[in-house]
Amino acid sequence: MELTRGKQLAARLRQLVPGGCHTYAKGDDQYPELAPALIARGKGCHVWDLDGNQFIEYGLGLRAVTLGHAYPRVVEAVRGALELGTNFTRPAPEELACAEAFLALIDGADMVKFTKDGSSASSAAVKLARRATGRDLVAICAEHPFFSYDDWFICSTTSDGGIPRAIYEHTVQFHYNDVGSLRAQFAAHPGKIAAVILEPARLEEPAPGFLAELVALCHAEGALVIFDETITGFRWHVRGAQGLYGVVPDMSVFGKGMANGFSQSALAGKREVMHWGGRDRLDEDVFLLSTTHGAETPALVAAIATMEVYRTEPVVEHLHRVGARLADGLRQASARHGLSAYVEPIGRPCNLFFSTRDPQGKPSQPFRTLFLQELIRRGVLGPSFVVCYSHQDDDIDRTIDAVDGALGVYARAMAQGNVDGLLVGPPSRPVFGRR
Ligand SMILES: Cc1ncc(COP(=O)(O)O)c(C=O)c1O
Repeated sequence: MELTRGKQLAARLRQLVPGGCHTYAKGDDQYPELAPALIARGKGCHVWDLDGNQFIEYGLGLRAVTLGHAYPRVVEAVRGALELGTNFTRPAPEELACAEAFLALIDGADMVKFTKDGSSASSAAVKLARRATGRDLVAICAEHPFFSYDDWFICSTTSDGGIPRAIYEHTVQFHYNDVGSLRAQFAAHPGKIAAVILEPARLEEPAPGFLAELVALCHAEGALVIFDETITGFRWHVRGAQGLYGVVPDMSVFGKGMANGFSQSALAGKREVMHWGGRDRLDEDVFLLSTTHGAETPALVAAIATMEVYRTEPVVEHLHRVGARLADGLRQASARHGLSAYVEPIGRPCNLFFSTRDPQGKPSQPFRTLFLQELIRRGVLGPSFVVCYSHQDDDIDRTIDAVDGALGVYARAMAQGNVDGLLVGPPSRPVFGRR
């Protein structure tokens, strides 16, 4: 088979960069053989690969691009910032402007520190909790797939090479919507748990009272609560999922969604915790997110412009509306093909996923890969159906047509019991499993 230019360059990239990309979730092993190998450019919800093929894209930039690629208001703001220089020997006024814009939205937080990714912000939150409580353990939600690339979290996964055994002893797990499982961890480790970290919601909604009860339990046990709003922040609600559900954590982490794809994240929290990273008192000794690039001005102005759009335009409403249209279309197409129990929408419309089950009703990577492949053949790049503000009804309707065609092939695979002869190349595989 003759390799396209995209495939050729991707093969070279794999030789030079471990994994062939800078986020495992973008890697070749995550996609069908027929997937575009490299993306050359994007505009709104559309992308073009290196070989000139156009796709409607979902889950843009691993959900970091909430408004759409090259969104004019953000591009203009960044262009202006570039002309002024991007990093100085002292702070820039954009650091204040961004902090004010952010804290005006996130009610429960008094202070914020910006950095470049969600992982380092989550790790900083854990460190602050350890300092504030004088304890070592962190309790992580078992159903939530990712909090940080740092050892305290990765030790709970199957990709744990290179992590000292001693680290494992400091991470324990509890279950979402199950306060009893957290209570059991407090009982098993009395006076030892510094922090409890979870996404306020993911695919499952919080049961009534769950988040408030969790916060009350943690405080009664002397532990701090960290909400990881890397995904939910600004996607669930302009005031974060904490604003939507009306529950205030001690600290929260924002990332994807802050700056429409520019590298910007935030650790936000109550002053009594955040101050440990300050320099006003001699005992304020936490080395908190002090990085060369943490306050690079183009990312800060991208964040300011993005938050301004969230504040003044119905972004979240749009995400819910077009996501719901797509979920309905998928549900109806699945029913038409007799696949309702196998391919169905999952999660909030603003953060839509889909199941891909095999004839036995089990989640299946081969069937998932086949579905992705058939979407790609029909001009849709959809590892999820997570929408952005630039998806219009027409994009959604074209996607539903693609889904309908893809499900026709899926139904054939179901009838024969496997994807043999239908899937080109090997099935994709998960980035990692959780213990
Ligand atoms: C919930 C959650 N927290 C943290 C992270 C880490 O963010 P980053 O990739 O910016 O380090 C991710 C990334 O996927 C995430 O989904």
